[in-house]
Amino acid sequence: MIHFFRRRPTAARPIFAPLGADMHCHLLPCVDDGSRGNDETEVCLQVMHDAGFGKVYCTPHYQYPRFPNDEEDIKRRFADLKTDIASNLQKLDIELAGVAGEYRYDSVFGERVEKDSFLLIAGKYLLVEFSLSQQVMGYEDVLFGLQMKGYEIILAHPERYPYFAGNSPRLEHLKEMGILFQANVLSLSGFYGEGTQIKAFDMVNRGWVDFLGTDLHNPIYARALIENTHDRKVEKLIETHTFLNNTL
Ligand SMILES: [Fe+2]
Repeated sequence: MIHFFRRRPTAARPIFAPLGADMHCHLLPCVDDGSRGNDETEVCLQVMHDAGFGKVYCTPHYQYPRFPNDEEDIKRRFADLKTDIASNLQKLDIELAGVAGEYRYDSVFGERVEKDSFLLIAGKYLLVEFSLSQQVMGYEDVLFGLQMKGYEIILAHPERYPYFAGNSPRLEHLKEMGILFQANVLSLSGFYGEGTQIKAFDMVNRGWVDFLGTDLHNPIYARALIENTHDRKVEKLIETHTFLNNTL
């Protein structure tokens, strides 16, 4: 019998338990295009727990002029969030392990580098993203300068930049420099389109992907994450590859 309507799954399966930590999401409310309030954050955290994550690092956007976030304000808001939802966090059995940032390589990035004004994931990793539309220039020297200062750099979702192919020599050069790559788990199930999905698998299979992140923004993404955990291809990839998430 042909099933014309397949029911959408309502709960996540814990396929991401081997990762332990999610190190890229936008669940600190009201600071970027992510969660719009504690309620949305709690919905997302419930799904992340069900998907197998035990701890979460929040990484709000720092992007001029759209999200002109300030590290001190972000730290205050994160402390407030933890206090406000403390009892629910205990019930959800998930830890808000820290707050860092997803730093756009933009016109003020150089100033940030000069001031060393970065919040790091687990006190160690600097998450950097490029423009999602315009080809970026001159980044190798800037990232190398950061490495010389001792930063360990993670490039956020390299599979999402339309100007880089999955086997791009420019990405290969970044790997040779020692830049770590983080792919989005939702890329693996086609949330951002088939081209991005193919690139994500290609990069993982090349051994280029060091971390996986949810990049969860809100309950719409959480719904996609539930479906993601029912995708056999994604589950198999988690079973057969090792990522650095579980070192956080
Ligand atoms: Fe992000």
